[in-house]
Amino acid sequence: MKTMKKAIVVTGGAGGIGLACARKYKEELVVITDYSQKIVDETVEMLKSEGLDVIGFASDISSKEDVAKLTKFVADHGEFKALIHTAGVSGTVKDTKKVFTIDLIGTDILLDAFYEIANPDSVAVLMSSMMAHVVPSNEAYDDALKNPQADGSYAKVEAATQGDSDIMYNFAKKGVLLLLEKNVDKWGGKRARVVSISPGVIETPMALKAAAEHPEKMEMIRQATPLKRNGQPDDIADVAYFLTSKAASFITGTDILVDGGVLHNLKKMG
Ligand SMILES: NC(=O)c1ccc[n+]([C@@H]2O[C@H](COP(=O)([O-])OP(=O)(O)OC[C@H]3O[C@@H](n4cnc5c(N)ncnc54)[C@H](O)[C@@H]3O)[C@@H](O)[C@H]2O)c1
Repeated sequence: MKTMKKAIVVTGGAGGIGLACARKYKEELVVITDYSQKIVDETVEMLKSEGLDVIGFASDISSKEDVAKLTKFVADHGEFKALIHTAGVSGTVKDTKKVFTIDLIGTDILLDAFYEIANPDSVAVLMSSMMAHVVPSNEAYDDALKNPQADGSYAKVEAATQGDSDIMYNFAKKGVLLLLEKNVDKWGGKRARVVSISPGVIETPMALKAAAEHPEKMEMIRQATPLKRNGQPDDIADVAYFLTSKAASFITGTDILVDGGVLHNLKKMG
């Protein structure tokens, strides 16, 4: 029987961080997934022309049906090695339900579905945000963040965020950290790993949109960054690549902050 190549699945594969992550994998089969068939096809063609072994599958990661089809597609084409989950939206969408659904429920759906095809060499890399780390733990909403698909969870979190989509983004990303905690033993049962990255400001389409909305805030963050620069997609992709490598085989349940040191100063400012 022909052995299958290890499959690296990149959600949001057409986006800034997703594309940079995909480009790191020269030996494996890369599976790009994103919202629209058109951008998936364009991204696959571009990566093929760069020499990658890559296939694509369009899916909305907040749809259980789409994600079920995605995991089947992955299992049919390769041996599931890594999920690098970068698909997401920021508060600029001005819709708290959309932020909660895509950023948090989507992550929960993906973790459940990919667990089913996980094996001892598999790893899920989630994208949180440095902003998750400014949300305090609180009994009033932590349980809802940890169980985002349960009845009433959105309403509980919405009450705490007072209808502000930027604040909802921070809470949803805090939820990603809680999902990490919730899944570490479960994935460990299969000797599989789950980790997350909390990026600071990374210059991608998402951050550039936010910067256009709040230029003064973005400049303040850059000034407060010890390394005096914004991050680039490769800053995150290099860490994601490490986390999926053999060198990280004893790392699970951990979040890595990749923010040029700025969170430290933002916390001091209050
Ligand atoms: N860029 C930053 O400064 C920054 C900072 C902290 C965290 N992050 C996180 O990193 C991740 C990647 O961000 P980015 O800057 O590359 O953003 P991006 O906007 O460049 O890429 C996100 C991609 O996700 C896709 N997407 C959105 N909703 C989807 C859905 N429902 N189903 C499938 N695909 C969907 C988009 O089409 C897009 O291609 C996000 O989770 C984001 O919250 C980014």
